Amino acid sequence: MADGSSETKSSNQMWGGRFASGPDAIMEEINASIGFDKKLYAQDIRGSIAHATMLAHQGIISADDKDKIVHGLDTILSEIESGAFEFSRRLEDIHMNIEARLATLIGPAAGRLHTARSRNDQVALDFRLWVKEELQKTEKALTALIAAFLDRAEEHADTVMPGFTHLQTAQPVTFGHHCMAYVEMFGRDRSRVRHAIEHMDESPIGAAALAGTGFPIDRHMTAKALGFREPTRNSIDTVSDRDFALEFLSIASIAATHLSRLAEEIVIWSTPQFGFIRLSDAFSTGSSIMPQKKNPDAAELVRAKTGRINGSLVALLTVMKGLPLAYSKDMQEDKEQVFDAAESLELAIAAMTGMVRDMTVRADRMKAAAGSGYSTATDLADWLVREAGLPFRDAHHVTGRAVALAEQKGCDLADLSLADLQSINLAITEKVFDVLTVEASVASRTSFGGTAPAEVRKQISWWRARN
Ligand code: ARG
Repeated sequence: MADGSSETKSSNQMWGGRFASGPDAIMEEINASIGFDKKLYAQDIRGSIAHATMLAHQGIISADDKDKIVHGLDTILSEIESGAFEFSRRLEDIHMNIEARLATLIGPAAGRLHTARSRNDQVALDFRLWVKEELQKTEKALTALIAAFLDRAEEHADTVMPGFTHLQTAQPVTFGHHCMAYVEMFGRDRSRVRHAIEHMDESPIGAAALAGTGFPIDRHMTAKALGFREPTRNSIDTVSDRDFALEFLSIASIAATHLSRLAEEIVIWSTPQFGFIRLSDAFSTGSSIMPQKKNPDAAELVRAKTGRINGSLVALLTVMKGLPLAYSKDMQEDKEQVFDAAESLELAIAAMTGMVRDMTVRADRMKAAAGSGYSTATDLADWLVREAGLPFRDAHHVTGRAVALAEQKGCDLADLSLADLQSINLAITEKVFDVLTVEASVASRTSFGGTAPAEVRKQISWWRARN
């Protein structure tokens, strides 16, 4: 509308609702991180105690002030843990909330805690400690998942199932071997976790705002007190680095991708059409309308969590990609991504560990499927090479004709008569039937890492010694 008064009115409406009090309310809403960074309270307090102790040791603050600070921080810790602490959004973040409360509790000595540090190195410390602890939990969770797979692999080292490529029956394998494929995947995830812990094991505190400090601090002392290997080496990098969070999210994304592939297999295997496994009631649900159904909800949700976790990685990469050195407030957006991904990953690993341990393996169904789809065709071709001296390409051709004949007769390869097979190639003898069963096929694949039960058992022992 051209009329001036209604223009004023419509721009005033911008401050309506939650932002009724105008720009201040908007600023508070966009600026405050206390809603999510309160999760860092324990790390913040631990960091402050280490910092204050070092300041006193170096003679930068008095022992008396240090004692007051430590005592006050201990009180705050129990207030937060008992739920008595009142978080204030006006105080923006966890650092200021704790410092303000400390001032109320101990008076002017509280003001000495922030000597020779800044919120920039403080938040870098708190968050790094949190991520490091989360990775330690992830390592344990992955170890439990690997242990579940090792048990199932041992139990099913001889259970034959179809191996697939393109989701088409390819060659018989064992379920134990298939389980061990996941042990390899989650084993790689776990070594990425261990490597990342090593990588981020440097203490940021003492980098101050970005340039370091003129106070005679001892960064080695705080590093040691907080369980880090050593202090970081460049104060500018220290306050602008979020690689530890990005590494966590990359590792989480790759692990979630593995979990999602497993979830997809569980969904497929538990259909009546496949029927390879039966999920326990604990990890499935019934349908509200179709009484015959048992839905693999937990697996489906694990598959879906991967989307959230990958999203968090992309979000933080995008936040970081254009930032000049050193700290920018953009970096405050790092935490929710990591917290959300961590929660999703923990839950997904726990659900998978439960499903793997609880599912009933239907060996009869797996075996029946393993024998269909001409899964031993490669064994016939290999036999022709080994026993009849054919070049592999010719053997492949002969086998193709045998498969065509079996298809025409509506039977499996092993059901063709010797006469049928000899009508295709005269070099074929009765002995060929030894390799056409799924058990013989599987037992013959003794190459290192192959599907033969004896070989799979070797790999299980190798992992057991390392798990
Ligand atoms: N809440 C802030 C964050 O999470 C803490 C650091 C604030 N530093 C600053 N210079 N404003 O990043």
